[in-house]
Amino acid sequence: MADNVRPASMARINTPELAEAFIEEQIASLQAQIGKDKVLLALSGGVDSSVVAALLIKAVGNQLTCVHVNHGLLRKGEPEQVIEVFRNQMSANLIYVDAVDRFLDKLAGVSDPEQKRKIIGKEFIDVFAEEASKLEGIRFLGQGTIYPDILESDGVKAHHNVGGLPENLQFELVEPVKFLYKDEVRVVGKALGLPDSMVYRQPFPGPGLGVRCVGAITRDRLEAVRESDAILREEFAKNGLEGKVWQYFTIVPDFKSTGIKDNKRTFEWPVVIRAVNSVDATSASIEQIPYALLGHITDRILSEVRGVNRVLYDLSPKPVATIEWE
Ligand code: XMP
Repeated sequence: MADNVRPASMARINTPELAEAFIEEQIASLQAQIGKDKVLLALSGGVDSSVVAALLIKAVGNQLTCVHVNHGLLRKGEPEQVIEVFRNQMSANLIYVDAVDRFLDKLAGVSDPEQKRKIIGKEFIDVFAEEASKLEGIRFLGQGTIYPDILESDGVKAHHNVGGLPENLQFELVEPVKFLYKDEVRVVGKALGLPDSMVYRQPFPGPGLGVRCVGAITRDRLEAVRESDAILREEFAKNGLEGKVWQYFTIVPDFKSTGIKDNKRTFEWPVVIRAVNSVDATSASIEQIPYALLGHITDRILSEVRGVNRVLYDLSPKPVATIEWE
């Protein structure tokens, strides 16, 4: 347990200079730990795994292999960004696994939220383990464990992140950011040259859009979640709300209501907008989005997203509601 306690002498990393010093120190200790051996890392594109990837690339270059599993529940543009940043810009050894059909087939017809989470988590581990078994000579596994994960769980990655450690894989762990708080990981990520959209991105659940496509996931409704989410994010960015609002996204419930398009009655899904502020996700308040902006986002969603005829704004704080709908 002692090696899981942040050293009292460690300064809070809150300046680019302190981040640079941390990076230099970590490069040296990663090189000492890893030597000439090979490291594997599940790279979701979230800030923690991205920072670990960037540190490992600097420390051991091509001895690192990153695996990015696209489970079909990522936001629009995310897999492309991982490939662009890590393979194209940082020349990482990146294995991109298109597991979309595999996940969506397993999830077909499953409506219970916890069952959905379990399937996504198990499938992720299976896909990752399969990729790992194709590689030879891997000794280490990189992990984006951060200090709150250790504090909350006595050493086990606390949040039910789908990108968690495949426990049956016998690798030694490499956890270069395990003593950092989230804000420090972001300062280090910025110093490593990662794009702001990765460094400052809002919390995103491990099961991804899967918990926002309420009930049994279908491909068309999942696309409605992805497209409406992309519009919301784009409009928040354009209107200065990105980085100001803690978490914002859309939900598509699995019921329909009537509407009218081109003089014909329609029977389509609603899109629900959720935008909340929080410190640690245990409670949350509602962001007061300007009415004109809500109207503009509504117009865009209604004209650009297929299968949708209604847009709603969720005004419920946590508690009583949770942040996600499932
Ligand atoms: P709730 O919905 O419980 O969410 O108010 C609190 C925070 O946790 C995130 N969340 C998850 N994160 N796996 C995750 O990694 C999950 O299964 C999961 N469920 C909720 C949610 O996005 C919010 O930030």
